[in-house]
Amino acid sequence: MREGYEGTGPGAITPDGCAVELYARLPVGEEPDIIAAAVPAGAHILELGSGVGRVTHPLLERGFTVTAVDESADMLARVRGARTIRSSIEDLDLGETFDVVMLASFLVHAGDEEVRRGILRTCARHVADGGCVLIQREGADYHTDVPRERVDPSGFTVRIASVEPAGEGVDSVRAEYVFPDAVWTQTFLSRPLTKERFESALAEAGLEVDTYLTPDGMWVRAVPSA
Ligand SMILES: C[S@@+](CC[C@H](N)C(=O)[O-])C[C@H]1O[C@@H](n2cnc3c(N)ncnc32)[C@H](O)[C@@H]1O
Repeated sequence: MREGYEGTGPGAITPDGCAVELYARLPVGEEPDIIAAAVPAGAHILELGSGVGRVTHPLLERGFTVTAVDESADMLARVRGARTIRSSIEDLDLGETFDVVMLASFLVHAGDEEVRRGILRTCARHVADGGCVLIQREGADYHTDVPRERVDPSGFTVRIASVEPAGEGVDSVRAEYVFPDAVWTQTFLSRPLTKERFESALAEAGLEVDTYLTPDGMWVRAVPSA
């Protein structure tokens, strides 16, 4: 387990506290629509932190080719129809480039700044000339609108139960997922990034914002710096 990260509940838990069985149950939301609208049809997408393929599978159904990367073999074992690579994102160096590199699930908010730098360098290293990097950021009130919960129509409740300062600009976030037959929790470190800090983190890695894709600023298309 990564330090500061923890998960509870049935089944395997990844080093960042994610439960494999939970992610196998979570429905996909608007992510595939946002991605499909932002990249060329049929693009080859390098998906960093793919988990069980919750987003991967709908992207494959839409005709994209996906290479899925995750540090958890238990997660990757659930991915179907995509090439899978088990690796930490920050250490990935495939020696090839992709039309699209995708960094979703707020992984850009990694608590450890060295990990975040490594992750963004991986994005820059793997994007083809003329390609782009899609990044999902936290919403503006992610760390302050707490506690909060949402009842999903498919029959579970997701709750951000607490967000506590953990030192050096990092918060410890506790999420709970309550299903009728099982409960999972995840505690993880998240570093809030204002728009300015996010953009300077990109610049450090040789990337710049091309477009904020959604009005809430959560989905971003970035490109290599001019
Ligand atoms: C919150 S889950 C999201 C999975 C998937 N993106 C989704 O939306 O369903 C985060 C995933 O990223 C992986 N992960 C987190 N940090 C990682 C890192 N530094 N290197 C490789 N994988 C990582 C975890 O193993 C986990 O499968």
